[in-house]
Amino acid sequence: MSGVALAKAHIGSYRGRTLSNLSLAQRERFFSAEGEALSPQPSLRRLVRFVQHNLLDPFPLETQSVDMIFCQNVTIYFKLETCRTLIQRFYEALNPGGMLFLGFSETLWNVFDGFRTREVGSAFVYYKEPQIVSQGEQMPVEPPVRSVRSSARRAAATTTVPATDTMAVNLSQARA
Ligand SMILES: C[S@@+](CC[C@H](N)C(=O)[O-])C[C@H]1O[C@@H](n2cnc3c(N)ncnc32)[C@H](O)[C@@H]1O
Repeated sequence: MSGVALAKAHIGSYRGRTLSNLSLAQRERFFSAEGEALSPQPSLRRLVRFVQHNLLDPFPLETQSVDMIFCQNVTIYFKLETCRTLIQRFYEALNPGGMLFLGFSETLWNVFDGFRTREVGSAFVYYKEPQIVSQGEQMPVEPPVRSVRSSARRAAATTTVPATDTMAVNLSQARA
């Protein structure tokens, strides 16, 4: 993984349209202006960790029980069996109801059938079936998310990052 990309992520300087999906109130609350760029406030930075990690190695302990995983355009490089193993490990790392966000061109068809899909806006997300709570009775099928936009907002505030390309998010650390 590129050290330059990781360093850039650490700096966290956002320009142009990169934060255009945030409301003015969110920008003012979580970011400060630095010249023409916006920089995350310390309260937001404290919730994010950047860790360089090879996805083919065992996952770091803190990513063993997460609510969201963002992994865009990475599995396209892997052979089918490697991809299958990685997706299985993502599945195991997710909490019940947790979601996996892949790139637009990435599909799990014929790769892994453990996830369910849900349409959010114009995109499909994969999610893990919520746990069965008692015999014959299930938790609501809908995962705990209102929209990709709100997911991303919360993700931005509560993220553990094993690599710049792959984010694991634990919402239990989320602040109201
Ligand atoms: C096409 S880029 C995608 C970058 C970014 N996620 C995006 O969508 O623009 C693929 C990325 O996968 C990362 N990658 C490839 N193999 C990896 C591995 N075994 N562990 C972690 N990252 C890996 C590379 O570092 C590269 O940055």
